[in-house]
Amino acid sequence: MRTFCDKSLSLHKYEKRFSMMKKLLLLAALAALTVSCTKDKKILILYYSQTSNTKAVAEALQSRLGADIEEIIPVVPYDSDFGATIERGRKELEMGFLPDLQPLKSDLKAYDIIFLGYPVWFGTYANPIATVLDMPGMHGKTIVPFCTFGSGGLDSSSKAIAEKLPENPVMPGYGIRAARLSSVGPELDRFLVEYGYIKGSFEKLPDFSEFRPVTEEEAAIFDAAVGSYPMIHAKAAEVASRDIEDGVEYKFIARDLPRENGGPAPDHDIQVNVLAKEGCAPEFTQVIR
Ligand SMILES: Cc1cc2nc3c(=O)[nH]c(=O)nc-3n(C[C@H](O)[C@H](O)[C@H](O)COP(=O)(O)O)c2cc1C
Repeated sequence: MRTFCDKSLSLHKYEKRFSMMKKLLLLAALAALTVSCTKDKKILILYYSQTSNTKAVAEALQSRLGADIEEIIPVVPYDSDFGATIERGRKELEMGFLPDLQPLKSDLKAYDIIFLGYPVWFGTYANPIATVLDMPGMHGKTIVPFCTFGSGGLDSSSKAIAEKLPENPVMPGYGIRAARLSSVGPELDRFLVEYGYIKGSFEKLPDFSEFRPVTEEEAAIFDAAVGSYPMIHAKAAEVASRDIEDGVEYKFIARDLPRENGGPAPDHDIQVNVLAKEGCAPEFTQVIR
């Protein structure tokens, strides 16, 4: 027998379903709009890669977008020795030196959107990108940054691009740790659909919770995620989290600890994003400084 409560419940269900349908229709319309916005645009994937990590992402992008692709090649290549590249890179940065590049084969003027790829160097885009940003052909282009890094730098490098080219639309970018390159495929699939560069569907993730003090268990997850990475020497203080399909995603706010070898600890907190998937060891996905 139906009760009043049942009826109100089913009415409530109907309303919920109707509002869900409205939401879905709106999302579909938005998605269609974004896709149609980029469908007729000409895309170039332009990237610099010293040790092939960014090249792997550029090629994964190319296979999905079917766009033109070109590698940026410095006239004097950077040394394959890490220490030598650090030394040369730092000197160039201090002097504001723009490394000479081999002429590009692509006519930048012919493109609407440039997926601009680079390794993060010294917290920002690698030096050869500074030369590219100075090219007149970049003027007014929509830029989608993508990068690889040891610990992070997507946000800081994207901001630096936007500051350098204030007239250019700089879209949300994609970045991945060199140690997580095996996740590029599924992450790019989602990124490209979410921002309307290719067609497809994706599940919208829930919002993160509010930040709260970490529990002991969460502090242990943080330590396990960053433990083997020598550049992070920090203690988790606060955390926000959300459930994902196969685990939990965390944003930790961590306090830098003084280094064992002396030297001052940075005086600001860092944010460390961590993925804890069922059956896998927790891993950090990026550090935002
Ligand atoms: C000169 C230099 C500076 C670097 N600076 C950073 C940095 O500030 N932050 C970071 O997370 N990784 C840094 N890295 C690591 C690179 O971003 C990382 O290894 C990247 O995946 C290399 O990409 P590639 O193989 O395309 O050259 C640096 C590497 C070099 C050679």
